[in-house]
Amino acid sequence: MNTRTPIVILNFKTYLESTGEQALKLAKISEKVAEETGVNIAVAVQHADIFRISAEVEIPVLAQHIDAVDAGGHTGSVLLESVKEAGASGTLINHSEMRMKLADIQEMVKKTADNGMGSVVCTNNVETSAAAATLKPNFVAIEPPELIGSGIPVSKAEPEIVEGTVDIIHDISPEVTVLCGAGISTGEDMQAALDLGTEGVLLASGIILADDPKKALLDLVGNI
Ligand code: G3P
Repeated sequence: MNTRTPIVILNFKTYLESTGEQALKLAKISEKVAEETGVNIAVAVQHADIFRISAEVEIPVLAQHIDAVDAGGHTGSVLLESVKEAGASGTLINHSEMRMKLADIQEMVKKTADNGMGSVVCTNNVETSAAAATLKPNFVAIEPPELIGSGIPVSKAEPEIVEGTVDIIHDISPEVTVLCGAGISTGEDMQAALDLGTEGVLLASGIILADDPKKALLDLVGNI
């Protein structure tokens, strides 16, 4: 996974606006904006869309989740090897909409690294961010759940959580890159996140549900 910063990870979640054909369209828009601005933009797409999108864009394509299972009898589970072969170069882990047990988070961080894939562990506060940092993923993304989808940017509403996360992760595992997310939608929100010491953002609704996602993405990264 290209981990160059500043990085924007656009989480497609399960919005219809970022499912199937629409997902491909949004991934191509993201690629275009990445080319035009030079900013590293990655997309975290639904499992069923990974293969097609990976075949059509050069930007990093991530899974939104992988189950902590090994190959074998686990009907309905998402296997890392399957996601990797489909073209994903990394995955979100422990998103607040798909929480995992600590032991499983640790296993997935290790398994992604062993397989040459990137890992983005999502956390909800400074304490869980500290715990995640000890596992040494590529990224920790701090996202207070109450601000997700709210349109109220974490970088402005709860700057102390973002700064506290940056400080503690730098102390514990300086090689881990800190991102923040929840309510981020504008270039101003993005700049505020960078000013707090993060190296990028993880976001969804502000771009996916925008009337003009390309314009919204350009506004997000146009001035950094
Ligand atoms: O994974 C990104 C996320 O949970 C934030 O969502 O809609 O507030 O940008 P949103």
